[in-house]
Parts: sequence; structure tokens; C-alpha cells
Amino acid sequence: MTMTPDAPSTPALIAVEDVHKRYASGTYALRGVSMAVRPGSVHGLVGANGAGKSTLIKILCGAQGANAGNMRWKGAVVDWSAPAQALAAGMATVQQNTPLVPTLSVLDNVYLARKESPRWDAVARRVQLTELSERMGYAIDPDATVADLAVGPRQMVAIMAALSRNPDVVLLDEPTAALSPTERDVLFRAIRRLRDDGTTFVYVSHFLDEVMDLTDHLTVLRDGRVVLDSPTAQISQSDLVTAIVGERLARMEKTTRPAHRAVGEPLLQVRQLASGTKFGPVDLTVHAGEVVGIAGLLGSGRTELLEAIYGADGAASGERLLAGKPLGATPRSAVAAGLALVPEDRAKQGFLRDWEIWRNLSLPYLRSLSWRGMVPIRSREEALADRAIDDLGIKAESRDMIVGELSGGNAQKVVFAKWLYGPTRVILLDQPSAGVDVGVKAEIIQLVRSLADQGRGVVIVTSEFEELLTSCDRILVMRRGRIVADRPAADTDLHELTALASGL
Ligand SMILES: Nc1ncnc2c1ncn2[C@@H]1O[C@H](COP(=O)(O)OP(=O)(O)OP(=O)(O)O)[C@@H](O)[C@H]1O
Ligand SMILES: [Mg+2]
Repeated sequence: MTMTPDAPSTPALIAVEDVHKRYASGTYALRGVSMAVRPGSVHGLVGANGAGKSTLIKILCGAQGANAGNMRWKGAVVDWSAPAQALAAGMATVQQNTPLVPTLSVLDNVYLARKESPRWDAVARRVQLTELSERMGYAIDPDATVADLAVGPRQMVAIMAALSRNPDVVLLDEPTAALSPTERDVLFRAIRRLRDDGTTFVYVSHFLDEVMDLTDHLTVLRDGRVVLDSPTAQISQSDLVTAIVGERLARMEKTTRPAHRAVGEPLLQVRQLASGTKFGPVDLTVHAGEVVGIAGLLGSGRTELLEAIYGADGAASGERLLAGKPLGATPRSAVAAGLALVPEDRAKQGFLRDWEIWRNLSLPYLRSLSWRGMVPIRSREEALADRAIDDLGIKAESRDMIVGELSGGNAQKVVFAKWLYGPTRVILLDQPSAGVDVGVKAEIIQLVRSLADQGRGVVIVTSEFEELLTSCDRILVMRRGRIVADRPAADTDLHELTALASGL
């Protein structure tokens, strides 16, 4: 008999038994979780936003302690009190929203905090990084400053930092949320090859197709409990979705493709907008009540285009008009004129981690929530927060919760909410559903539609083209800095968009 990674007779490499985690804030994140990870397997960990996935990852890697339960590593009970212990034992982790040091180079980030002998010098590191980069089939400049990298390459740097230690186990918390399809392929090939050589992976993702494709075993968490735990081959797609969303499924299925709708006057007009080699020249118009999608892969210039429209690119040239009036050259003036940008890198730019939900939410509206436009009225700010928590289904103990303590997806909802209630006339969304679960994705689509129904203009940029097809009126395809196609959403399909965006 051959031993497959899923054969119960194979002893677990990592096992947790009846783990409970309650944060100091009172949130009960894990309520008795047991899970066994077999050596040489890719073990998927999935669940809706706030289900407890990142919490479990943090406990596994020693970044957080559990309140009860125990953990075994290679059969022996361990109690890691710091990530360094897990690392030393052979476990490398890529956390969700990985903190890199933006001012350092790629090379320095990969080898940060290494305690190898000093003789293990810069030259050796450079050679090793080049080898790793070649083995992965992913080219990156070791001397590039991380701050200059887009989110995709940044995430790849974090992954390379983990893999460069030749660990026995790699924990990956949503590694692909920020990756382009090409980068994703690179990662998948690397995972498969390493798995075949005996490396074990715990893999957290909201992309169910990739989870079905990549993993050997799946554990589904819902509200801090294991609701499904089985070899992937024995799980159907519909079972998986049902396990994840539970009762929210019904709501999701109600989202249907919009019928053709009439649009109003032009709200946002962009003429011959260009910025060096980044993109352009680009012309585009967004009408009142219209949702315009920009289908573009990472690196197509899509994020740079949005930033330039928003006034955040000082080097951009061309014309930008909002309701016929020229927009100023700074984000501040754009916001004042009624333009909002929800950035791709929401964890970094979208909210203030140390502030409460209510304080984050009222920030763009302080004037209208204030007495004579001067002194903020707390009760109004709180009422806004309660409304947003309710409207978006933000999973939080209360409006007083610190945004940094929310789960990744719920923190994103706070960023969206920041722009929903104000005088914003055109809202630019960069990858709005990166890192959110299927249920929230449907909710975001509904939100976007309702923004348009109120007469606003919406621009959505994403590499998830299915999403554009369900939420947009019109879809532009961007490739190598140019708009290469403009289609009514009803007249195109996934196949055509993929072909146009990837240059087939
Ligand atoms: N540092 C923290 N302090 C207090 N509560 C927290 C903290 N981190 C997470 N939580 C809470 O614990 C619960 C589980 O969060 P966790 O981050 O584990 O979810 P997740 O499954 O990773 O979600 P996502 O898919 O959105 O990343 C959530 O209700 C969250 O608000
Ligand atoms: Mg998470």
C-alpha cells in the first residue's frame, strides 16, 4: 500500500486539538478547533471573512497564544511563545498583509533578521536569491527598493523570503489576493514542486478554484469552528460554498446581472491622460449612473491610471474633468470636487489601523457631521458608523472596535463605507474584492450598483473579469498602458476579455 498524504495512518506534522482563542477585546475567534496537517500535503484553510483563519495561522506560527487547547509539532506538544521558535523548528509563515520594510531592497527584505554567520555575506545571499528566483521562474531585481514595487511583486518578495529558508512547512495566509494571474501561476508551480519534494503547506485563500485545484485536504472554518474537514477530492464545489457561507448563500444567489440601464450626463471625462512610460494616452468617460469596468492584468497600468485620475501622479499630463470642471492636481482637491479612490493596498492607505471604526468612517465627512462645519458631533459620527456596520454587515463587536483588530475582509468593508455616505460623485475602486470572501463579494457588487443607482459614477479596476461582467454597464480593456477595447458588458464575455487583456 502506498502512503498518500491523506492516509490517516501518516502521523500529522502539525496537529491542533480543541484550540480556543478569545481576543482581549472579547471576540471569540476560535471555538474549539482541531486540525491535522499531514507531511508533504497542501492543506487548504478556507472560510468567510472573520471565520478565524488568520487567527489559527497566527497560533500555529507562534505569533499569538491560544487560550486553551494544544498543538503538536512532529508528534510532540509544543508551546511556541514567539514566531522565532516556529521558524527555528522549520516553519515559515507569510502573514496576511505581510509587513516588509519599504525602505530596504528586495535582497535585504528576503534576508532580514537572519542570524547566519557573518561570513554568510552579501555575495552569497545574492547568489542564493538569484537561484531561488530562477528555480521559481520569477524574475525580480534584488536591488529594487520595496517601496517602489507594486503589491504583486511585494507579495512575491514575502513569499520568497519564506521559501529561502528551505522550511519543512510554509504557512501562506492569502498569498494570491494581490497577485496577477502570471504571478499566481509562478507560485502554484513552486508550491507543487516543493510539495513533491516533501514540503508541507497550509494555504489560506478565498479563491475556491485555486483551492480545489491546489490542495490535498481542506478544512473549512465558520465562526471559529471547523464545519468541514476532508480530502479535497471528496468535496464538491457546491458543498464547499455551502460550508463557507452557510445561510448567506441565499443572499448571494440573488445577485443577478443588471438589465440595460439608461445613463445620465457625463460625470468624469479624461482626455489624453498619460504618465511617462506608465500608461497612456487614455481617453475615458463615465456617466452619471454608470458602472465602468477596466479589465486589466497587474502591470497593465490600471492602478497608475486610477492614481493619475485621482491627482496622485504629479508627472501625469492630460485633461481631467468632473461634471465639466477641471480637477485640481492633488488628491485633496479631487476629493473636494467629489472624486474618491478606494486603493488596492487598502491595509496601507485605506484606513488608520489604530482608530476605532466610527472614527475611521467619519473622517471624510467631518464637515457635514460637525456643528457649523467646525466641531464634530460625536453622536452623528456614531450614528453613521452604526448605519455602515448594518448596511455592509461589518462583523465587529461594536463601532468602538479598533480597525486593526478586524479581520482582513471586514477592515476592507470599513474602507468602502468611508466613501459611501458622502457627497462623492465618482468613485474609483481598485480591485474591490481582493481578499474578501464570496458572500462579501456579492455584497460589494450590490453596493456598487446602489452607488450608481443614486446617480454616481463608478469605475472598477480588477483582474477578476467575471466580477466586471456581473457588476458593470460597460467594460474597457487595458493592456500595456492603453485602452484596447470598449464594450457594453452585455456584448462581451470572459473569453473575449481574457484574450484582449492578455494580448492573445
Ligand atoms: N488582534 C485582534 N484583536 C481582536 N480581535 C481580533 C484580532 N484579530 C482578529 N480578531 C477578530 O477575530 C475574528 C477572526 O478574525 P481572523 O482575522 O482570524 O479572520 P479571517 O478568517 O482571517 O478573516 P479574513 O478572511 O477577513 O482575513 C474576527 O471577528 C476578528 O474581528
Ligand atoms: Mg485573514
